[in-house]
Amino acid sequence: MCFSSNYKVLVALICIVSMLKNTCQGADEYLEARCKLLRDDEGEFRGSKLNLSESEGKVNEYLVSLKLKELEESYGNFSAYLPERNFLDAKEDIEQSKVFQFIQKIPKGTSLHTHLLAAVNVDYIIQNFTYMENLYGCTNFFNIFKLKFLENSKQDLNCSWKSLKTYRQENPNFDAFLKNCLALGKEAVNQTRNEVWSEFKNTFSSLYDFASHRPVFKLYVKQLLEELWVDKVIYTELRGTFMPLYDLNGTTYNTKMFLDTLIEAVDDFKTSHPDFLGIKYILNLYRGVDNNTLKSTLEELIYYKSLYPDLIAGFDFIGLEEEGKNLVDFHEELLKVSKDLQFFFHAGETNQFGHTDLNLADAILLNATRIGHGFALVKHPQLLEEAGKRDIAVELCPISNQVLKLNKDPRNHPATILLAKGHPVVICNDDPSVWGATGLSYDWYVTFMSMTWQNHGLKILKQFAIDSITYSAMSETEKIEAFEVWTRMWDEFIEEVICRNKL
Ligand SMILES: *[C@@H]1O[C@H](CO)[C@@H](O)[C@H](O)[C@H]1NC(C)=O
Ligand SMILES: *[C@@H]1O[C@H](CO)[C@@H](O)[C@H](O)[C@H]1NC(C)=O
Ligand SMILES: *[C@@H]1O[C@H](CO)[C@@H](O)[C@H](O)[C@H]1NC(C)=O
Ligand SMILES: *[C@@H]1O[C@H](CO)[C@@H](O)[C@H](O)[C@H]1NC(C)=O
Ligand SMILES: *[C@@H]1O[C@H](CO)[C@@H](O)[C@H](O)[C@H]1NC(C)=O
Ligand SMILES: *[C@@H]1O[C@H](CO)[C@@H](O)[C@H](O)[C@H]1NC(C)=O
Ligand SMILES: *[C@@H]1O[C@H](CO)[C@@H](O)[C@H](O)[C@H]1NC(C)=O
Ligand SMILES: *[C@@H]1O[C@H](CO)[C@@H](O)[C@H](O)[C@H]1NC(C)=O
Ligand SMILES: [Zn+2]
Repeated sequence: MCFSSNYKVLVALICIVSMLKNTCQGADEYLEARCKLLRDDEGEFRGSKLNLSESEGKVNEYLVSLKLKELEESYGNFSAYLPERNFLDAKEDIEQSKVFQFIQKIPKGTSLHTHLLAAVNVDYIIQNFTYMENLYGCTNFFNIFKLKFLENSKQDLNCSWKSLKTYRQENPNFDAFLKNCLALGKEAVNQTRNEVWSEFKNTFSSLYDFASHRPVFKLYVKQLLEELWVDKVIYTELRGTFMPLYDLNGTTYNTKMFLDTLIEAVDDFKTSHPDFLGIKYILNLYRGVDNNTLKSTLEELIYYKSLYPDLIAGFDFIGLEEEGKNLVDFHEELLKVSKDLQFFFHAGETNQFGHTDLNLADAILLNATRIGHGFALVKHPQLLEEAGKRDIAVELCPISNQVLKLNKDPRNHPATILLAKGHPVVICNDDPSVWGATGLSYDWYVTFMSMTWQNHGLKILKQFAIDSITYSAMSETEKIEAFEVWTRMWDEFIEEVICRNKL
């Protein structure tokens, strides 16, 4: 394949612009001052201090040319700007983007904020897991359709279970119905925040008993890792509860069995994927609990951390932040364990100001390792500064924020300011299966196209990958290994892009 002359002109222009930028020799004093001002401003952007090799520089130019082409279309035509359209609606079009396809191939390092039960592609689940024998379904008292493995429908009398085989005989569109139970449909585009959150929560209930069937749990975890691996992710931190697994004969197992099964699944995966480094688990608890429940949960967590120090990363609260209790209500219990556990609090995932967002103060004072979302952080200059001093990274999940109605246009996302000020940010996918995403590429794409300068290319993406390792809960030794593996993949990737595109 050869480049059009347009491409070469563009590359030449970029070279000239960047030469001017470094030296800042304008035609007059005003232009020189303007150049210096912008140079210093851009110099604060996350990743701007990285140096690219000559090969990386070529790949960067190629990437920026793809990015500019796509952005320029949207400068002339507002409706061509994909990240602003609700992801549920724009996903297929994003997949056609050259920039997106480029991002899919980038070695991304790690994935640090994903909820266990919202992490496997729903089409895959339906097609490959729900045709298994002994799978039953039932609409429960709360009008939620639950899935569960049973020997027969009478094994659990809490609900009127019917086999999926029967459902499918009765309703040829059953799989579409099922998909609507496990993921948000396009109707969510026009729903309110409350409506979307309510459907969103139900997807977890629908899947819970399905995924805690012990043999399926292993398959589920392996598929989760496969989807990350295909997306060039080599390690992940998952949030979830300690699920009591069960077998078909009604045996239910304790937490130790849950953790052993999780480890078994990950080890199986590592055997067939030697460069995959593993996972860590962040136990989460509903933020509406009382002190006693929190206390006993933390005690249990510390006990299991002593048994599985490499697996257990720490603790977090989940649930709609605005309707739960505040972190400060739990500060006494949390302080007691702050020497034993790392925290990864969802905090500031709200549009409120001076209210729920104040959880950020607690996340910072409790030395959270990272903050989930931190959407409200830039509204609080002292909190932002303190988070910077303590080097607390923000977990940015732009598609989650859009689908769950915190923010519509990612160009207005506050994390843009975090990046512009050089604050560490890790890009995460939160609950990808609920909106039909797999891996991290979709969130990387939205961030790259919406929250970086138009001329920013490979540096910021390389920085995202580096930060995903640096701000993980891996030990220093584990990080060294992760950097080794990632660097090897990165170098191969650069070579491959140069070769394939004859750069
Ligand atoms: C990049 O190169 C400059 C100039 O050679 C050097 O001062 C700087 O330390 C380098 N930055 C990194 C992150 O290596
Ligand atoms: C603007 O972009 C939209 C979406 O890509 C496209 O359907 C439409 O035809 C474009 N309009 C013009 C005038 O190019
Ligand atoms: C089901 O699994 C097969 C084999 O892994 C795979 O090729 C297929 O794409 C899966 N189906 C879906 C809908 O993902
Ligand atoms: C039925 O529900 C009760 C109360 O929620 C629960 O304790 C019991 O384990 C359930 N039975 C089965 C078979 O799941
Ligand atoms: C959402 O509402 C807009 C404006 O009323 C409409 O054009 C669009 O088709 C709706 N989308 C969905 C998925 O219902
Ligand atoms: C239940 O099934 C599991 C897995 O097949 C088996 O290991 C266990 O012994 C069975 N328990 C009983 C009580 O039959
Ligand atoms: C936990 O206990 C403290 C001290 O008694 C109290 O102030 C706080 O409100 C309690 N928190 C919750 C969530 O009940
Ligand atoms: C947080 O870290 C600071 C600085 O290391 C330390 O002084 C403080 O005690 C820590 N706070 C908690 C709650 O661990
Ligand atoms: Zn989350």
